[in-house]
Amino acid sequence: MHRETARTMVAPGKGILAMDESNGTCNRRFAALGIDQTEEQRRRYRQLLVTTPGLGEHVAGAILYDETIRQTTDDGTPMPRALEDAGVLPGIKVDTGAKELAGHPGEQVTEGLDGLRERLDEYRTLGARFAKWRAVISIGDDRPSRGCVEANAHALARYAALCQEAGITPIVEPEVLMEGDHGLRTCAAVTRRVLDRVFAELRAQRVDLAGIVLKPNMVLPGCDSDERPSPAEIARATVETLGEVVPPNVPGIAFLSGGQSDLDATVRLDAMNRIFPNAPWALTFSFGRALQRTALQAWGGDPTKVEDAQRRLRHRLRVNAAAARGAYDPRMDEAA
Ligand code: 13P
Repeated sequence: MHRETARTMVAPGKGILAMDESNGTCNRRFAALGIDQTEEQRRRYRQLLVTTPGLGEHVAGAILYDETIRQTTDDGTPMPRALEDAGVLPGIKVDTGAKELAGHPGEQVTEGLDGLRERLDEYRTLGARFAKWRAVISIGDDRPSRGCVEANAHALARYAALCQEAGITPIVEPEVLMEGDHGLRTCAAVTRRVLDRVFAELRAQRVDLAGIVLKPNMVLPGCDSDERPSPAEIARATVETLGEVVPPNVPGIAFLSGGQSDLDATVRLDAMNRIFPNAPWALTFSFGRALQRTALQAWGGDPTKVEDAQRRLRHRLRVNAAAARGAYDPRMDEAA
């Protein structure tokens, strides 16, 4: 069951909409735009996303947050049902966040394993077909440490095994952050090291690799680096790094956007699919910010702007779905 769901999640020309911001993160994005930070505004915004016309044409899944999976649209339809009706698999973020890792200043470990079996059972009854757990790894002086990489990889593997036991497909997300002045090669080396450990732990916990979706960072220079690699250079560094450590039976790799601009994320995904049309895994998107940014700004909490916001989301979905086939044309964005 988890294998079939994994294949569906990365079906050709489709990606995943990450809309699982925690209340804290969602509120911060609302505050920056002067939107009320209430449960009702968060519900209205998530309703806007899940009821976007044609959502299912370009995304195979959408990741929800605990609050959202329990909410309904205006007509009383549970959010997961609204997604199913649109032909989109509902997913759920199940980690409880990244916390300071004891003994490792500046590093974090993602928590949420305690009681996870029971929570997964409940999420399944609420309609979740897949789950997500995000580990964060930072690059800096002596970072990432061995302790940080091992703790996060172990937790990801324990989470993935519990998901598969529950018939839920795990998205395995080890994110190497963009913050820092490191270069592309450093990011490549750290990403390789982290993924190597993640796959060792997944195997040790007997996770079926054909029944997961990997959600990594693209291999990029840090935000404060002077390097300006081309989309083709980033695409090569990313796919070659992944090729060294990701087994070919993993059905799909769905990238996070991680703070890249909307256009950068799209163009780089497109370059990967153009340069590596025969990669062993599907190469697609599971973007949060790079899909939602323009829609959230257009909405701004104003009920009369819902359609405009949905048009903008639909546009980013369409261009990224094209990039997932290596068929993005910059004129698609010029015309928008
Ligand atoms: P971004 O694409 O905004 O990085 O979000 C993806 C995500 O799900 C992070 O966990």
